[in-house]
Amino acid sequence: MTGRILSGVQPTNNLTIGNYLGAIKNWVDLQRQSETLFCIVDLHAITVPQDPKALHQATLEVAAAYLAAGINPKESAIFVQSHVHAHAELGWLLSCMTPLGWLNRMTQFKDKAGKKRDNAPLGLLAYPTLMAADILLYQTTHVPVGDDQKQHIELTRDIALSFNHRFQKDVFTVPEPLIKGEAKRIMSLRDGSKKMSKSDPSDFSRIHLTDTADEISQKIRKAKTDPAPLPETLDGFENRPEAKNLATVYAAFMNQTLEEALPAIAGKPFSDFKPLLADLLVDKLSPISTKMLQYLDEKSELETILKRGAEHASTRANQTLKQVKDVMGFVSPF
Ligand code: AMP
Ligand code: TRP
Repeated sequence: MTGRILSGVQPTNNLTIGNYLGAIKNWVDLQRQSETLFCIVDLHAITVPQDPKALHQATLEVAAAYLAAGINPKESAIFVQSHVHAHAELGWLLSCMTPLGWLNRMTQFKDKAGKKRDNAPLGLLAYPTLMAADILLYQTTHVPVGDDQKQHIELTRDIALSFNHRFQKDVFTVPEPLIKGEAKRIMSLRDGSKKMSKSDPSDFSRIHLTDTADEISQKIRKAKTDPAPLPETLDGFENRPEAKNLATVYAAFMNQTLEEALPAIAGKPFSDFKPLLADLLVDKLSPISTKMLQYLDEKSELETILKRGAEHASTRANQTLKQVKDVMGFVSPF
């Protein structure tokens, strides 16, 4: 696929296999075919309170995870969102043109703000306008994300179309979401109806990229299941969300569809399948976590990559920002 790709992950807590399978793993293949930019969206992370030390560490960890998972800094720009000032600036401009009604409809806002909406920070509501800025600054054609972000990409499209219409000029490319693979939505290990999330209070609900072999085995052993063995056909997963989720994780790490993976696991009781899955996870994740720790040890290499990434991204972003400000009537600096 040709075009321009941008995506990002928030530096909050530790990355999970949901982030990896739903997002980062897919980016690795895309970088060979398209121009790719991947950011660590620290300005998004602070829409909920962050401990400064934890934010700092998580920002470097997400960068290290991108690299360890196979994002190649020679092929892709890897950068920290707050290093490219155009994001915050375009975010403001777009927030002045986005109706509150559009933002109030966002399910992520409703989930995160909960019942006490009046206490939610303004930034949590404005979050999608900043995300639109991230995407639109680079004339992005495709945004690879997990299923949960689809609504935000649709809003980004609406913002781009209404801006272009209002100023009668195609300033922004209208992006498409790219939601692919078996692992669009990996569910919690404790509850098959809830998304696996970095922010779930229970550590047993998720597997982190940096979990040890023992932690992985323990979490898989304790994962919720039902008494029946794995089904022989895809239809057999109906009303068995936990079984389907574990089988999906297995398939995704095998680089197979669920259908392709099924013959190898069909009919197995969980007492056999769980150790098999734990071994597969340890096998696939340990090279990633080893490399992550190496990058975090040699910070100077990481810093150089992030600096270059931000320079590359700034050049592109500033071109779009200038066009936007010109059509809106801002006077250029003298
Ligand atoms: P976040 O953790 O919200 O910063 O998400 C970063 C990326 O990971 C986004 O593209 C999400 O759609 C994706 N993602 C997060 N959690 C999951 C999950 N449980 N299953 C699939 N994709 C996910
Ligand atoms: N909102 C995304 C999430 O929570 C993260 C994100 C911010 C993003 N800006 C982006 C993803 C731009 C893709 C493109 O997962």
